[in-house]
Amino acid sequence: MTSATVYRNCFALGKQYLHRLTVTEQCASGRRLSGTSRQSSNRATTESCRHSLGGLNSIRSISSGPIAMAKPLDAQPTAISAEHTGIFTPTLNKMGWQQNSLDEYLSDFVDYAGSPSRTRPVADVGAAFGFVSQKLLERGATVLMNDLEPGHLEDIVRRISPEERERLTCIPGSVFDLKLEEGSLDGIVAARMTQFFPVADIRRFFDLAYKWLAQGGRLCVTNTSPWRGTTEAFQREYERKCQQGEEWPGITTTDSLDQNRQKRITLPQTGYRFDPAVLRREAERVGFRVVRTSFYPTPFLPDEFRSADGIRDAVGLIAEK
Ligand SMILES: C[S@@+](CC[C@H](N)C(=O)[O-])C[C@H]1O[C@@H](n2cnc3c(N)ncnc32)[C@H](O)[C@@H]1O
Repeated sequence: MTSATVYRNCFALGKQYLHRLTVTEQCASGRRLSGTSRQSSNRATTESCRHSLGGLNSIRSISSGPIAMAKPLDAQPTAISAEHTGIFTPTLNKMGWQQNSLDEYLSDFVDYAGSPSRTRPVADVGAAFGFVSQKLLERGATVLMNDLEPGHLEDIVRRISPEERERLTCIPGSVFDLKLEEGSLDGIVAARMTQFFPVADIRRFFDLAYKWLAQGGRLCVTNTSPWRGTTEAFQREYERKCQQGEEWPGITTTDSLDQNRQKRITLPQTGYRFDPAVLRREAERVGFRVVRTSFYPTPFLPDEFRSADGIRDAVGLIAEK
C-alpha cells in the first residue's frame, strides 16, 4: 500500500483528527511517526484514536494530539462508496460482506438508539463500512464505530454530513481492545460479527457488552443462521448435535460452506452459526434480560442467500441490561 492511500479519521466531540500515516508525516506535536509498514501505521492509529467513552461529556481527546490535516472532507466518493448501492459490499479483510439493508432486528435497534431519550453513545462494533452507523447517525444517535480493518472506517466520512461527523467516533482494531468505561453506552450493535468468533471469544464479547452498557442499555446481535449458506451435511450434523444437547452445536469450518460459495469467498477458517437458544443462553449467562430472540427472514436478499424455508435466514437477539 502506498503511503498516500493510508488515511485515518477520528472524530470526537466535534474535533476532527485526520491521520495520514507516512514516514514523513509531521504530528502537530512536532513528533514524526516512524516506520513505513502497514502494521506500524495501524498500530499508531489505533493507539492515537483510542479513548474511553464515559458519556458524551467525558469523551477525551486522543492522547497523542491531532496529527496534521491530510485530506479535505469534501473528497470525492471512493469506489467503495459506489458499491454501497449494492446488496452487499465485500469487506477489505475478507471477513464476509457488509449487508446494505436494515433487517428487522437492526431496524428495531436503530429505532431504540434514535430515541431522544438516549443520552449516551451507542457502539456499532464490527461495523465494516458503517451502513448501520450511518442509519444511527441519521436518527440522531452519537455513534462509536469500530472495526478490525482500519480501511473500513475511512469511507463513512465521505457519506455523512458535517453535523453527523461531530457525533461519530471511529476506533479501528479489535472490539476486544476497546477501552471503554463501564456503563458508558446506551446501546451496542454487533451485526454479523460474532459469527466469526471462536466460542471463548463469544463469551468474552457478551461479558464486555454487559460491562459497557448502562443500566437499561440494549445489545443487538445478528448473525447468519445455520440454515443458510451451509452444506446439507453441516445442517444434518448441526441438528444431531442439537438433539444430543451439545453446548456449541454451530461450530463451522470453511468446509461447512456450500462448495460454490467456497470458490468465491475467503472466510476465517472457523466460525459459529447461532440459534436463538444459544444467543439466549449466552445473554442470560452474563445477566441480560432477553427482549427478543428468533430466526427471521431477510427478503431483501437474493435466493442464494436465503434459507430453504425462507424464514430462518438470520438469527437475532435484543437484550437489555
Ligand atoms: C460480515 S462483516 C459484517 C459487517 C456489518 N456489521 C454488517 O452487518 O453488514 C463482519 C465485520 O466484522 C469485523 N470484525 C471481525 N472480528 C472483529 C473484531 N474482533 N473486532 C472488530 N471487528 C471485527 C470484520 O472486520 C468485518 O468488517
